[in-house]
Amino acid sequence: MTDKQLMELAVEARKRAYTPYSGFKVGAALLAKSGKVYLGCNIENAAYTPTNCAERTAFFKAVSEGEMQFEKIAIVGGKEELLPLCAPCGVCRQVMAEFCDDQFEVILGTPDNFKGYKLNEVLPFAFTPVHLN
Ligand code: THU
Repeated sequence: MTDKQLMELAVEARKRAYTPYSGFKVGAALLAKSGKVYLGCNIENAAYTPTNCAERTAFFKAVSEGEMQFEKIAIVGGKEELLPLCAPCGVCRQVMAEFCDDQFEVILGTPDNFKGYKLNEVLPFAFTPVHLN
């Protein structure tokens, strides 16, 4: 699975975004160490706060299927066209920090122009499970 293929899967996932309120569609493709890919889209709600981001949809699908180890996630987003870069929100970064180490890669951009960032670059000084030991 190349990074470009993972970005293309994120584009596919974005097509299923349910966004009647913002019109902003996000897609995520999460590669587990098992080799399996979990797709996620954002799913909005009339009460607004129950909205789930694409990244968390992908993580929660994966964890609920028994996956606990992850390699990388590709994220794309935008209203009509894809933005050059759609950054994950702070809550989604925190969920990544729960299940992934510093080397986990967050791939941002579009399938034609993307870059991978280490989790500790996108979430420095993370509060993680080790703090509770
Ligand atoms: N959104 C995501 O899916 N992921 C993010 O990391 C940022 C925001 C969604 C939530 C909402 O449906 C829409 O984008 C606008 O905030």
